[in-house]
Amino acid sequence: MDFSKLINTMTLPEKLAQMSQLLGDSYVPDDNAKLMGLSYGFDVNEELKWNIGSILGLHGAEKVKLVQKEYLKKSKHKIPLMFMQDVVHGFRTIFPSPLALACSWDPDIIEEVASISAKEASVSGLHVTFSPMVDLVRDPRWGRVIEATGEDPYLNCLYAKAFVKGYQGDNIKDEFKIAACVKHFAGYGASEAGRDYNTTEISKYSLEEYYLPAYHAAIEQGCKMVMTGFNSLNGVPCTGNKELLKHILRDKWGFNGIVISDCTSIHELVMHGFAEDAAEACLKAINAGVDIEMVSTTYFENGLKNIREDKIKLEQIDEAVLRILRLKEELGLFENPYKNGDEQKEKEILLCKEHREASRRIAVRSIVLLKNTENVLPISRRQKNIVLIGPYAESKELIDIWICDGKEEDVVHISQGLRQKLDFTVSRGCGIHEGTKEEMQKALKMAESSDFIILALGEHSNMSSEAGSRGYITLPEVQIALANKIFALGKPVVVVLINGRPLELGEIAEKADAILEAWFPGTEGGNAIADILVGDEYPSGRITMSFPVTIGQVPIYYNALPTGRPKGDDNNPERFVSRYRDIHNGPLYPFGYGLTYTDFDYSNFKLSSEILTPNSSITAKVNIKNIGKKFGTETVQMYIRDIAGSMSRPVLELKGYKKVDLAPREETQVEFNITEDMLKFNTLDNGFTAENGKFKIFIGKNAIDLQVGEFEYIK
Ligand code: NOJ
Repeated sequence: MDFSKLINTMTLPEKLAQMSQLLGDSYVPDDNAKLMGLSYGFDVNEELKWNIGSILGLHGAEKVKLVQKEYLKKSKHKIPLMFMQDVVHGFRTIFPSPLALACSWDPDIIEEVASISAKEASVSGLHVTFSPMVDLVRDPRWGRVIEATGEDPYLNCLYAKAFVKGYQGDNIKDEFKIAACVKHFAGYGASEAGRDYNTTEISKYSLEEYYLPAYHAAIEQGCKMVMTGFNSLNGVPCTGNKELLKHILRDKWGFNGIVISDCTSIHELVMHGFAEDAAEACLKAINAGVDIEMVSTTYFENGLKNIREDKIKLEQIDEAVLRILRLKEELGLFENPYKNGDEQKEKEILLCKEHREASRRIAVRSIVLLKNTENVLPISRRQKNIVLIGPYAESKELIDIWICDGKEEDVVHISQGLRQKLDFTVSRGCGIHEGTKEEMQKALKMAESSDFIILALGEHSNMSSEAGSRGYITLPEVQIALANKIFALGKPVVVVLINGRPLELGEIAEKADAILEAWFPGTEGGNAIADILVGDEYPSGRITMSFPVTIGQVPIYYNALPTGRPKGDDNNPERFVSRYRDIHNGPLYPFGYGLTYTDFDYSNFKLSSEILTPNSSITAKVNIKNIGKKFGTETVQMYIRDIAGSMSRPVLELKGYKKVDLAPREETQVEFNITEDMLKFNTLDNGFTAENGKFKIFIGKNAIDLQVGEFEYIK
């Protein structure tokens, strides 16, 4: 469509309104529109309201259609509205949180989650989701790690693409497809000290090597929208950051979709000390290239003045409006402003049997077995006298806070899931944060007379996610007290964890016989946990964020740069090396770690050549054997280290992995093809290239348990 005529007939306030987004509750008194955040209190005048470009947080086919209809009736230009919301890991059927999904090491799963989410969201009237969040994360104090996929750029890129593919398909106009919005550009995951909304300082090298690739991957996959971060990056707030939004995003990456601010983040440029007032905030955001302002109204209120004073060029406004109209066209809204919004289909599709089954299957794949002393898991069906204790024993709060239309009442809790498979008694013992003496005594008594204890502990969902930063990342005291009393009984204890971040597990890690990290597993969480506990399914998840031993190690991540004084072995007594005097350097559980109900042996690691050239490749082969008694999946991980470069290179970088399913005693050979591309990095002087020299290649179970080989790259 040629929009130039339409744009020419629009007044400036109409254009600025098109570049604005209001909350749904400005139109319909609606619970859904209660989004997380400040109570905004921005004025919504009628002119803005009936010329607005998009709406945030309103879903439900009936309501959305009503608002669209009313809007099209009242607005002069009859440009359909776009409805946007955070559909992050499910819409009504809730899947595990992104950090949990990432533990599957399976982009196909992510794509499936995104595709089901899009289907449910689209019949409910939504057109755009504020997902994926691809911020690389290293600090578990930051509550939003639950929304991320971890500390590794290679995996983050695979996942970014899979999310976008799942939401958008081949064409966002297609039935059940919605547009994706990658966020939060850029580096929001590096919020200093893990405090949300805080400043970020990221070197050019780190940005290019670690932080930017996943946003870029989403864009390469055709992601239609980019959201700016709340953070300042190296002194400049992302929402007014020309280097990011113009030079990198538009000029370098050629992105021609829409840039949207985060919620009120244009207005917040004033609080950042980057703009004196709302007028300057508006000016700086538009000049940096932000097309849509989310929730605050600085564009609408100050745009005109800035244009009259010639501080903003009219062409910039027209370009932004054109981008917005184009997305509406791509979504097919000019032909059908309701797209897939359909009350009847909502009834058929939301939380349908097929989606519930997918949620259960995928939750199984996201759960990570962290410890399993003497194969205490799986629990035998002959096991007598089992007791289930803990605040999550019968809690339906197995979904985190980004749940759109998700409802706790739909959730299967742990006791419900287990009840299908085992006989057991239940006692809560305590709540998440507090408990009574009586309640604890009751649970301990039951534990005393039992033979096997399942302890379901964790964080409340509001302890992670947005504004969910924590200074201590242990379980709440009352739960630790309960656990210690139970461990003291000397019975087998399996801990099931429901939480939103890698925790400092301390005594729990030492004393529990088994630990199952279930994260926030979603609507079918209780069933998935039960499936694994009794061995109807086996655990196969691998963590994508290191678990620290203690908060003092944070940030701790596997792909760090070496130091000039490496400590090497954790028991090295040497003083003048890079070490703590009181704790080990290493994590409690490393990146890539996770157990299952069997074990695998690695042997015969071989490289086809010791020399790699630009036109050749090396094949790395290793034999994997299931040496246990149960069927299992091994995630074989391949890392590379550049021994010496023009810049210091990470001690390990994940470059590939393969999943193999093996029956007991079965053995297979796994192959990786090593190519020049895997060695490239952003060099100081020569751009993105591979440098001559020696490399190490590692293959193994996780970032610590590895076999090693060497080769040389010669151009
Ligand atoms: C603020 C969050 O930072 C962002 O991720 C989200 O998309 C918006 N609010 C809208 O809900």
